[in-house]
Amino acid sequence: MESLASVVLAAGKGTRMKSGLIKVLHPVAGLPMIAWPVAAARDAGSDTIVLVIGHQATAVQGAFRGAADIRCAMQEEQLGTGHAVSCALEALTGFRGTVLILCGDTPLLRSETLQSLLAFHRGNLAAVTVLTALMDDPYGYGRVIRDPSGRVIRIVEQKDADPEEQEIREINSGIYCMDSDFLFGNIGGIGNDNAQGEYYLTDLLAIAVRKGLTCLALQTADADEIMGVNDRVQLAEAARILRRRINREHMLNGVTIIDPDSTYIDQGVTIGADTTIHPGCRIGGGTAIGNGCEIEGGVSITGCRIGDDCHIKAASVLEGSELGEDVAVGPMAHLRPGTTLGNKVKIGNFVETKKIVMGKGSKASHLTYLGDAEIGSNVNIGCGTITCNYDGVNKHRTVIGDDVFIGSDVQLVAPVTVGRNSLVAAGTTVTIDVPPDSLALSRTPQVNKEGWRLKKKP
Ligand code: UD1
Ligand code: CA
Repeated sequence: MESLASVVLAAGKGTRMKSGLIKVLHPVAGLPMIAWPVAAARDAGSDTIVLVIGHQATAVQGAFRGAADIRCAMQEEQLGTGHAVSCALEALTGFRGTVLILCGDTPLLRSETLQSLLAFHRGNLAAVTVLTALMDDPYGYGRVIRDPSGRVIRIVEQKDADPEEQEIREINSGIYCMDSDFLFGNIGGIGNDNAQGEYYLTDLLAIAVRKGLTCLALQTADADEIMGVNDRVQLAEAARILRRRINREHMLNGVTIIDPDSTYIDQGVTIGADTTIHPGCRIGGGTAIGNGCEIEGGVSITGCRIGDDCHIKAASVLEGSELGEDVAVGPMAHLRPGTTLGNKVKIGNFVETKKIVMGKGSKASHLTYLGDAEIGSNVNIGCGTITCNYDGVNKHRTVIGDDVFIGSDVQLVAPVTVGRNSLVAAGTTVTIDVPPDSLALSRTPQVNKEGWRLKKKP
């Protein structure tokens, strides 16, 4: 198999985004935009990928930290796409084979399409092959000029096109395959004598034709795929299309998605069969959800591992948490990072948890804050319980043994331990450790003043 390297152009700022963040780092379905074409190039068999970076170079580089196949090439000044590719070539010194050239702002591009382009390019021993598409509204794109016999002869940019050329609907996607010898040998031949005074990569097509080399165009059936994101309207459109693809994949794997148009699942999330996702959910951050779960409407889940048969009720927020099997959460519960819930745990409405472990079968059904706590199994946490974990300077731990019953409206002033099988009476403020099998009670004795109301209200 002939070797393949890729160049991804991403030095431009993306002015039309009107953003402090460079365009290619805007997230689309959970990944920075540029990660999508990079993944497509990788999946198409590219083992070296050179990113041409300029604006916010450190941030773009940072998005790929640790990726062994990524190299970065600096383009200090953006003098055009031809100049950008010439900046990448040093990183490809000694490489021979096919060079795939992509842009960082095409998140919809699929590796299957790149594979077809590659097969077409290699099968025809072409020097250069461009991926094109027919557009109803080709405005702004470079147009593909063919001779009367249909052979590609050059690409003309919008700003350089005469009225007749502007009528052409076949556009340049900005995605190319090039033979490395041709690319290295001819990139220096590109000039900047055009309407924008830029070095146009597209000039390589005319150069190939002039030299009698094979220059081809492959039309893609799906014009959506090559859509470049230039502004936030197109960003939303691209995200919508990716969402559809992701949701479709989950549905074909056995997940019921009640309303795919209002379900936001990021790339990389896994969901088991027979799980049902209701409208308005957001699931991201590498979450893994088991089989047979029910995720009710308006739930937001990031970075969680959720076992089989869990029930996450409406409007709950789960972050960085791990749930066993048959766990019920919500409605309107908030699991914050570091929450670990055993099998059959129940977390009810208006309960907030943070950095806690809760053993099998334990319950906190209503209006509770549990932070920095280790809770055993079969524990009942009554309504209104609060772990007072913060003294204004440090966080302290609460430890509750198995089979403990905490009554309603209890404050556990940490650090404190409640031994196994004890009962903490309603309204108690626990400030000293409770031994196992005990009753803890701290209440001001009640006083009844008979007739008091009658004296106040004659
Ligand atoms: C380019 C093509 C056009 C094609 C269109 C498809 C040229 C001359 N034109 O036009 O035929 O229809 O893409 O979207 O190639 N970049 C750099 N350094 C530079 C210039 C650009 O890295 O000096 C990067 C940009 O960040 C961007 C990509 O190259 O990711 C495309 O550049 P852009 O200026 O958007 O090219 P277009 O004018 O859209
Ligand atoms: Ca563009």
